[in-house]
Amino acid sequence: MNNRMCEMFGIEAPIFAFTHCRDVLVEVSKAGGLGVLGTSRLTPQKLREELKWIDAHIGGRPYGIDVLMPSSFENLEGEQKFDTQAMHPREHAYLTKVLDEAGVGRLPEADEAALLRDAVHSVSFIPNDTRELIEIAFEHPISVFVSALGTPAKEIVDRAHARGIKVAALAGAPKHALKHKEAGCDFVIAVGTEAGGHTGNITSMVLWPRIVDAVAPLPVLGAGGVARGRQVAAALALGCEGVWCGSVWLSTAQSDVLPELKAKLFAAPSEDAVLTKSVTGKQCRTLRNVYTDAMTRPGAPATLPPPLQAILWWGHGIPRVNRSRIAAGLTTAVGQIVGDMTEELSVRQVFHDMLSELIEAKDRMDRQMS
Ligand SMILES: Cc1cc2nc3c(=O)[nH]c(=O)nc-3n(C[C@H](O)[C@H](O)[C@H](O)COP(=O)(O)O)c2cc1C
Repeated sequence: MNNRMCEMFGIEAPIFAFTHCRDVLVEVSKAGGLGVLGTSRLTPQKLREELKWIDAHIGGRPYGIDVLMPSSFENLEGEQKFDTQAMHPREHAYLTKVLDEAGVGRLPEADEAALLRDAVHSVSFIPNDTRELIEIAFEHPISVFVSALGTPAKEIVDRAHARGIKVAALAGAPKHALKHKEAGCDFVIAVGTEAGGHTGNITSMVLWPRIVDAVAPLPVLGAGGVARGRQVAAALALGCEGVWCGSVWLSTAQSDVLPELKAKLFAAPSEDAVLTKSVTGKQCRTLRNVYTDAMTRPGAPATLPPPLQAILWWGHGIPRVNRSRIAAGLTTAVGQIVGDMTEELSVRQVFHDMLSELIEAKDRMDRQMS
């Protein structure tokens, strides 16, 4: 393919992969797309290791990083980060009760504190943390820097540009996309409500062309519900110049999600990708589990503001759930496309299938219009 996104990064197809898994990232970039690493679960030390590994394995292909920079947050300093239990006993007690009742084992007392500390440390949701991650990434040959949840600060955009790094940001509404454009972003990612992870309420079908028109002539990637070539064709037809996918990579052979979670994803219908604030404090499309269900019941506590809800779930819920591996507890951010994810394929196969179905879709449209 040949359009502005391909030219911007020297890639063969404008297929961008959001992933937390370095193996997926490398495979997508090697297949001719562009892999972007989510840093929201990484400590600075772990990010250094991941980027070093990527640089050694990606064969000079372009890649990027994605950083959570929420516009509203509670800034927490040092040890205060770990005190959510004392600060919010009712919310902790509710989570503990829900997991206990579902048979999700408690953590062994001996290593509970260390496990919690590790988990909490890697919840990088606040400016103090994300700044450090950005500085580390700037020491590596990244091609693109993506800001999730908010418009990147002008100073960061300028520093990225000075290093030849392109900047983009996710938007769930045209007004957010316009702010990204004003901040100097090189392209915008329009995220429809069907997407996995943080998302707004407007469907891809309605949102993509609106954002394309709002930020023109800036290029736009369509995100939310893209896993197949027909959806890539739809994005191009609606004026996007490429796609940004997250959920589909979870089901690939290279993905590092637990095998039990992968099995749950393969069995899940689209309806199980629910909108909830219970995993981060912000609306996030997530695979249903006992906690997302319990948080909708009458009498459930309200969710805490970010990053406190994320610390509660990622620090106190996820370590238990991932240790016990009980299906009712397992969860991940995932979009409605989960209903189409029924078997494990390699990243390269997914990529290849997307492109061949795109060509078929184009031929079908050409036939209908001639
Ligand atoms: C497991 C998972 C984790 C995600 N985490 C982030 C994140 O940390 N930062 C971010 O910008 N987007 C994140 N997203 C959202 C993706 O960037 C993207 O918008 C979304 O996956 C696109 O829709 P799709 O899931 O239908 O492909 C995540 C998505 C998934 C599936």
